Amino acid sequence: MKRSEFIKNTGLGAGSILAGGSVLSFLAACNKNNMMNGGGMNMGGQPVPVTEGNFSRLLPIPSVVTNNASLAAQATAANVNGSNISALGYQPNGILGPTIRLNSGNVANISFQNNLSEKSNIHWHGLKIPANMDGHPEAIINPGSSFNYQFTVNQRAALCWYHPHPNGATARQAFQGLAGLFIINDAEEAALNLPSGNYEIPLVIQDKRLTSTGITYNPSIMEVMTGYMGESILANGEASPFTEVATRFYRLRILNGSNARIYNLALSNNADLIIIGNDGGLLKNPSAVKNILLAPGERSDVLVNFAGLSIGTEVFLESRMFDHGGSAQGKQGFKIIKFKVTQTVSDGFTVPVILSSFTAIPASVASRTRDFVLNVMQMNSGMNMTGMHQINGKSYDKNRVDETISANATEIWAFDNSQGDEPHPIHLHGVHFQVLERTGGRGQLTASEKSGWKDTVLLLPQEKIKLIIPFATLSGVFVFHCHNLEHEDDGMMLQYQLN
Ligand code: C2O
Ligand code: CU
Ligand code: CU
Repeated sequence: MKRSEFIKNTGLGAGSILAGGSVLSFLAACNKNNMMNGGGMNMGGQPVPVTEGNFSRLLPIPSVVTNNASLAAQATAANVNGSNISALGYQPNGILGPTIRLNSGNVANISFQNNLSEKSNIHWHGLKIPANMDGHPEAIINPGSSFNYQFTVNQRAALCWYHPHPNGATARQAFQGLAGLFIINDAEEAALNLPSGNYEIPLVIQDKRLTSTGITYNPSIMEVMTGYMGESILANGEASPFTEVATRFYRLRILNGSNARIYNLALSNNADLIIIGNDGGLLKNPSAVKNILLAPGERSDVLVNFAGLSIGTEVFLESRMFDHGGSAQGKQGFKIIKFKVTQTVSDGFTVPVILSSFTAIPASVASRTRDFVLNVMQMNSGMNMTGMHQINGKSYDKNRVDETISANATEIWAFDNSQGDEPHPIHLHGVHFQVLERTGGRGQLTASEKSGWKDTVLLLPQEKIKLIIPFATLSGVFVFHCHNLEHEDDGMMLQYQLN
């Protein structure tokens, strides 16, 4: 990002840089050691405390389209938290676009109209599709123009999603409302007879900074460092909502669609969260856990059982405090959505023991290993504010291809956050990968990283991760980046070319 863009995005005008002696000395004092841990500096880097609502508004469920979707990015009104605010949407009246739901093997045909006053595009996060349909940051659609996204869905059942990806403006456009779900179904999944219809609940969890008239997006320098977070936690576009449930199993399809906030999901009654799937679809076997740490861009497919609860019982999906989240994450617990038991039913569902066929790829089949060091805070002088977040010492450059890979190669990519003091959810376009190992920090794989496919993986401070990636035959240039969208827009993104 150019310095002028950075200043614009941080809301710091040139006047405030030049006139504000304190800003200059703050910048001069920036270095890796004292910025995050040092005494008393706060330019908005402390987390905005979450304000819970009263869980009295109904959880909205995005409408579903099964083919030929039309999405029109636009400034629109949205009713959030009881106020009619202005936001961005892919359809009139409300943030979040429709859920696009297709069977594997079908062709997606999505017309996109850009009615914003700025460039935009759509990236299909989690979809393995050709580079020219992927929503690369330079493949933009100008204001007033349209584009037809067309591709064959050629992958297993999974919860994917879509959001804008124009270089330098991804974070703001997504935060102001542009996002939606993309669900792929297939025969392997259908054979499991998982809870469906009203018993399959999509949950897009996002934090927003709400005013009575809109969604504020003006990150300070410190908020570019930590990522931009909001005081209001929305599920499916509504703050602190509730939904009524019956005494049976439900399938929750959860996306963390936040720019930066990581959630440590748990149920308030300490009941199990039974993980059955992740970014890339169903796991081999279910795994019952009490907490799921879900980073921006990650998805979790979870069964919860309300059987045995009496009418009137309230159970919250909440986020609990967690350790090693860096300077701004995991410091507060809060409730996200209320489930209110209103109906007693009998439920014959039992959790399948085997969910899907999954074969772990042994590290030995990889043809090579590439190493990526996550670097932060390369400010040499107070005025050099670009690219504070880098990979291998490099910021995103549209004119530079960073890695060249042969089609159908299987490679190990190792990401190293051992020197870092902030979390980085790393996301690769165009592929799904398996996670081989995590060393440092948590020192192990999570339940959703074992025996499943991922496209986004979280590195907390001190952690190193090894991924094994079968690259497809898709050719072209794809990006990979940190999915903390402030980091991504700050340049923590590189390009790989598949030949
Ligand atoms: Cu969901 Cu390149 O991102
Ligand atoms: Cu993506
Ligand atoms: Cu990051």
